[in-house]
Amino acid sequence: MTKILVTGAAGQIGSELTQVLRREHGDENVVATDIKPPRFPGAEAGPWVPLDVTDRAQVERVIQEFGIAEVYHLAAVLSASGERDPDRAWRVNTEGLYNVLEAARRHGVRRIFWPSSIAVFGPKTPRVNTPQDTILAPTTMYGITKVVGELLCEYYHRRYGLDVRGLRFPGIISSATPPGGGTTDYAVEIFYAAVRGEPYTCFVRPDTVLPMMYMPDCLKAIRLLMAADPARLRYRIYNVTGLSFAAEELARELQRRVPGFRVEYRPDFRQDIADSWPRTIDDSAAREDWGWKPDYDLPRMVEAMLAALRERRARGEL
Ligand code: SER
Repeated sequence: MTKILVTGAAGQIGSELTQVLRREHGDENVVATDIKPPRFPGAEAGPWVPLDVTDRAQVERVIQEFGIAEVYHLAAVLSASGERDPDRAWRVNTEGLYNVLEAARRHGVRRIFWPSSIAVFGPKTPRVNTPQDTILAPTTMYGITKVVGELLCEYYHRRYGLDVRGLRFPGIISSATPPGGGTTDYAVEIFYAAVRGEPYTCFVRPDTVLPMMYMPDCLKAIRLLMAADPARLRYRIYNVTGLSFAAEELARELQRRVPGFRVEYRPDFRQDIADSWPRTIDDSAAREDWGWKPDYDLPRMVEAMLAALRERRARGEL
């Protein structure tokens, strides 16, 4: 049985991906790691190891001890947190990835998944239908670490034959574990406010359009990419997208379903980050090479998010 390591298993993507991987490969074969214990349902059914990815020796120890063959390296500092503490973003994102790649090559890991981001793009990149091959000149430390990360992944593939695959994720919208410290977090926070019956103060302008993706599509994309025939992959890291909408369109969709829900807009430093990122993404390479196709448009995503969060509220979780 393949032994799998997940870093960042307590995070937004990690907490849901670990559960999917454990259902498929067995609880005991998926090692959850993070700097804090994961809290998803059934987390204690499989191995959990505290791991700081900036510590190379710790990364090597876990990979060796469990005989890891596949890594989902999700531990990261997101864009807004990265601007608050660029030094930490560099260490966690760049050194963390480097440690994982080095440990993987030395200890026979066969495959790695690593999330890149729309943050690799910058103000000089075309913002509509942003192509796969284009200018990567970000203005945030987070974006810089993602560009370096992409180059490192390509290097380890070319030089050592490591099968590293990645996706340039847009903002990920999810109902189980909130994101922490991203620029696209408003698209999740707004749902929590609506379900709690509170007004929401949005930190970007109403006309801010960014690419997004609902968690089930995010998990689907990871699984499709990792299952793809290696001979068909023209890239290591792919553009991928679900849907794009303006903050005010999302607010309207919610107001239609939650009467009396109030939203006001008070842009802060995250507006500049949002303005430097694409509005829509061309993910045709992913569609052609490994059959990518998202399932959720805006109304479907809004319905599903509201239903999931209302259930959590009924259980007393929110
Ligand atoms: N959601 C992420 C962020 O806002 C984008 O990679 O930082």
